[in-house]
Amino acid sequence: MSEALPQHLHSAAYFGEQRDFWWNHDYVALLARRLALDAVIDALDVGCGVGHWGRVLLPHMPRATLIGVDRERAWVAEAAARAAPFAPRATYRVGDASALPFDDASFDLVTCQTVLIHVPDVPAVLREMMRVLRPGGLLLAAEPNNLADAMNVGSARHLAPVDDRLAVVRLQMVCERGKIALGEGDNSVGEVLPGLVAAAGFAEVTCWLSDRAQMLVAPYAAPDQAAMRDDALTHYDNGHCIWSRDDTLRYYLAGGGLADGFERAWSLARDAQRADVEALRAGTYHTAGGGVQHVVAARRPQR
Ligand SMILES: C[S@@+](CC[C@H](N)C(=O)[O-])C[C@H]1O[C@@H](n2cnc3c(N)ncnc32)[C@H](O)[C@@H]1O
Repeated sequence: MSEALPQHLHSAAYFGEQRDFWWNHDYVALLARRLALDAVIDALDVGCGVGHWGRVLLPHMPRATLIGVDRERAWVAEAAARAAPFAPRATYRVGDASALPFDDASFDLVTCQTVLIHVPDVPAVLREMMRVLRPGGLLLAAEPNNLADAMNVGSARHLAPVDDRLAVVRLQMVCERGKIALGEGDNSVGEVLPGLVAAAGFAEVTCWLSDRAQMLVAPYAAPDQAAMRDDALTHYDNGHCIWSRDDTLRYYLAGGGLADGFERAWSLARDAQRADVEALRAGTYHTAGGGVQHVVAARRPQR
């Protein structure tokens, strides 16, 4: 695994160590049973990043060969390095979700995690996924409603003034609208994904929720909690608050935010983040966690 990931590339700020702890493995085993993943032979992981999702799924697909595609060449190389324990079952190549570099009906599983939240045209990507799936093949998409997370603040701000809490939610909502307007995706698309999947012509559409709560309780000693704490501190120290300041400003303006309101909105959000970080450093912060990750499954119709 490379030491430092190139931070200017897509999603780099979200590839911290905490991502290794996104799933409860007994829950993934349950999903695998529900969806008969043990029968999968040819799998495609669209927007694979550095391969976290594929590495979660592969142990549950003992017969499968998985190909990951991503637009970023550096992620493809990193994913291949990290998947070495699965070689030769996992390979990676450069490709675009809206024009997948595969023949029709090549796969019996097409999957993605936190990718549809970044694409400008979800129906177009779903059509591509349908095209490369075999008749009866499985679509499995894990996509969040990130706005729901804005209401999950933890102990430091649980009883903060209503207006202070709403100001941070409002900033996130305006920015999410701006991200959509700029063609960079809908960060909360999970909320409407089953309907989009059905509208794209998939059959047997089902939706579950990940059961992973991401609890934090001092002393944050378990590896998952230590990774979440460290990532939160790194984000804060890097000036990153959901997004970088530059991206937040871009999204805010594109979402209809007024330029002269940005400094106040950003500093309220940073103040809120600082309250969490100071409590984390003091060991007084705690949260049940949250995050709403939708798990949407569907099949390409047989005909
Ligand atoms: C948040 S990351 C998710 C990575 C991986 N699926 C995971 O969950 O760890 C989003 C990934 O989608 C990739 N991506 C965004 N738009 C894409 C597109 N149109 N085609 C292929 N990859 C894309 C980005 O480069 C990035 O690696």
